Amino acid sequence: MKKLRIAVLGAGGREAALAWKLGMSPYCLSLERWLDASSSFEEIATFVEKKGIDLLLIGPEAPLVGGIVDFFHQRGLSKDLYVLAPSKAAAQLEGSKKWAKDFMRRHQIPTPEGKDFSRDSYAEGLRFLEAQSSPYVLKASGLAQGKGVLLTESLEEAKQILHDMLFAQKFGTAGEEVLIESFLGGRELSCFLFVAGSSYTMLPWAADYKRLKEQNRGDNTGGMGAVSPVPWVTKRLKTRIQERIIDPTLRGLSQEKIPYHGFLFIGLMCSGEDPYVLEYNVRLGDPETQCILPRIQTDLVPFLWKTYKEGLPEEPLKLNNQSCLTLSMVSGGYPRKYEVGKKILGLDQIPKGVELFPAGMRKHGNEWLSAGGRVLNLSALGKDLAQAQKKVYEAAQKIRWENLYYRRDIGDDLLADEV
Ligand code: GLY
Repeated sequence: MKKLRIAVLGAGGREAALAWKLGMSPYCLSLERWLDASSSFEEIATFVEKKGIDLLLIGPEAPLVGGIVDFFHQRGLSKDLYVLAPSKAAAQLEGSKKWAKDFMRRHQIPTPEGKDFSRDSYAEGLRFLEAQSSPYVLKASGLAQGKGVLLTESLEEAKQILHDMLFAQKFGTAGEEVLIESFLGGRELSCFLFVAGSSYTMLPWAADYKRLKEQNRGDNTGGMGAVSPVPWVTKRLKTRIQERIIDPTLRGLSQEKIPYHGFLFIGLMCSGEDPYVLEYNVRLGDPETQCILPRIQTDLVPFLWKTYKEGLPEEPLKLNNQSCLTLSMVSGGYPRKYEVGKKILGLDQIPKGVELFPAGMRKHGNEWLSAGGRVLNLSALGKDLAQAQKKVYEAAQKIRWENLYYRRDIGDDLLADEV
C-alpha cells in the first residue's frame, strides 16, 4: 500500500488524538491539521487539493451537518481522496434531534418517549410539560455544541426554558424546535462504530463524565473525563445493544436509502441491561476519542484505506488489554465565562506513559497559553483502571495555570463498584 498524506479537520482534543494515532503509522507520509472547522468548504477543499491529501478526517459535527462530504463529491475531487465521514442526509441523525427521534420511532429503536414543539405549538408544549413528571428533559433539536440538553426538577423552570428556547433564541436556530423527553435513569454509555454501508466495526466502549463537578453535579459540559473499557458492560448488554440498537439503526438507514459511511457514536442510557438511545452523533466523541484510541493496536491507516478501496476488513480491531483514563483540564468558569491567555506551566514534566492531547492551547514565543474553555487532555493506559487513574492524576498535578480546573473523581465510581 502507498503511504498516505492525511489531514484532520478540527482543533480539539479529539482531533489531536486522531492525528496522534494516524501520525504514528508507517503508512502515514504526512499529517496536516486544518484547525478552523468553521472555514468555508471552498477553503478546506483548496487546502486539500493543494496538499494532495489522500485521507481526510473530519472531527466536529458542524461541517458534516452542513454537507461538506456532499460538497467534496459535487466538486468532483480526485478519486484518490477518501473523505471519511457521512453525507448531509446521514448527518441528520445528529443535526436534527427531531429527525433522529422520528427515525427511531419508524424503526422501533428503544429511546425515551418524547414529543417535539415549535413556536406554533408552544401552548401544547406547556400542557405537555404539565402532564409529565419531574425531572423534565428539554433538548434543542439542532446543533448546540453539546449544551442543548437541559434537565430540571422544577416545572416552572421547565416552562421558562421552553419559552426561552422557542422565543428568546436561547440556542439560536438550534432551539427553534424543542424535544421534551421523559426522564430515564440509568448509566450512560458511549458506543462507537466505524460504519461502511451495511457493515461495521466496533470501537472500544467508553463512558464520559459530562457534568462539571465531582459526583456528577453542576453544568453539563462537553465532557470532563472518560474511561475505557467500561467495567459494568456485560456480555448480555452488548448483545442487546447490537440486536436492539445497532442492527436496526443500520438496517433503517439502508431501508431509507441513506448510505452511512464514517464514525457513528450512539449515546446510550442503560437501565439495568436495557439500552436506550439518547442521541446519535455522526462523529467520534470528545473526550472519549482520547480514551479509546490508545487502546487500539491495529494500525488504522491501512485499515481505513482498505475500507475505502476494498470494503471493511473482516477482522475486528485489535485492542490491548489495558484500561485507559482521560482527564479534561479546563479554564475556570467553563462552560460559562472564562478567561484565556493564561501561561501553562509544567508541560515538560508530564511523565512518559501519559499522553497530552492539546485542545484550547496556543504557542506564543516559547510559551504555551490557554486559548479556550477545554484546554488540554491527559490520557494514560494502565494494567487496570486504578493504575491508569493514578498515572493521570499524578501528571495533572504537574500542570498549572491561573484558574485551572479539573474534576478529581474521574473513574472513582467505577473503582468503588469493584469493592
Ligand atoms: N463526550 C460527548 C460528546 O462528544 O458528544
